[in-house]
Amino acid sequence: MPELRRRVAIWRQAGESVAVVPTMGALHEGHLSLVRQAKAEGGRVIVTIFVNPLQFNSQADLALYPRDEAGDAALLAGSGADLLYVPEASDMYPADFSTSVAVAGLTDGLCGANRVGHFTGMATVVTKLFLRSGADCAYFGEKDFQQLRVVQRMVRDLDLPIRVIGCPTIREADGLAMSSRNRRLPQAARAVAPALYRLMQEAAVALEAGGDVGAVLAETGAAVLAAGFARVEYLELRAEDDLTRLERLSRPARLLAACWLGEVRLIDNVPVRAPAGREDRDAPC
Ligand code: PAJ
Repeated sequence: MPELRRRVAIWRQAGESVAVVPTMGALHEGHLSLVRQAKAEGGRVIVTIFVNPLQFNSQADLALYPRDEAGDAALLAGSGADLLYVPEASDMYPADFSTSVAVAGLTDGLCGANRVGHFTGMATVVTKLFLRSGADCAYFGEKDFQQLRVVQRMVRDLDLPIRVIGCPTIREADGLAMSSRNRRLPQAARAVAPALYRLMQEAAVALEAGGDVGAVLAETGAAVLAAGFARVEYLELRAEDDLTRLERLSRPARLLAACWLGEVRLIDNVPVRAPAGREDRDAPC
């Protein structure tokens, strides 16, 4: 950590701004897009790689998480990153580590429902990375939309002196959202995987055309299973800003899903625009 602080202090003295891009490694174009956006907006860019044990709720999932230090360093070399920070778990979490950052409400459903402690572990490590780096701004992907909203809420609630910027989801040519977990998809499953995004886009079109939310979600869930997915963990329409569950498309929204393809859990989300004139239908009369 002293080395990180020393580098950041030198940049600050030179009047440069500092951005941080937190990651868990096994980097791909999605991660690199955050680095490029950070670089394009000026200043220095710190990329952190830390497979955070606190945010995994199964030891098996933690052990299976892909690690590729050499590949990561090679990818970052041409990305515009100024500093790669890879802390050790024992340094981040000494044996008597006893503090956590919990964001209530926003973390109850969606990915929080079946991953007990996930968002608290994520918020705790992100807080530490923000404080260690002392960055002015942080870049997060919309790919993990609930995570983005949790981090933004945490920063607002705790007055953390950092600006959180959301960046668009980067996809493979066939539409599959890039993810470190895609490496674990066997070939047959990889061929099925893009159906999730395709069906979610079709659902967004149907919802924007005025389709009944319950019916569209039910049809889409059935179509995801018919395409070859093993299980739909959730498929929900939520408000874009505060992730309130929506029964009707009354405000700008996101359709969010987590679906299982064999042993691999994929998440994705798409925006759903509220038709003009419907935005205040939920307002009290
Ligand atoms: P990780 O899954 O490695 O993702 C790091 C960042 O990359 C996150 O902000 C994520 O949303 C973004 N990202 C991943 N795939 C993307 C894609 N296809 N397009 C755009 N952005 C993408 O998210 C985490 O790590 C961890 O929870 C972390 C925030 C580092 C805390 O441990």
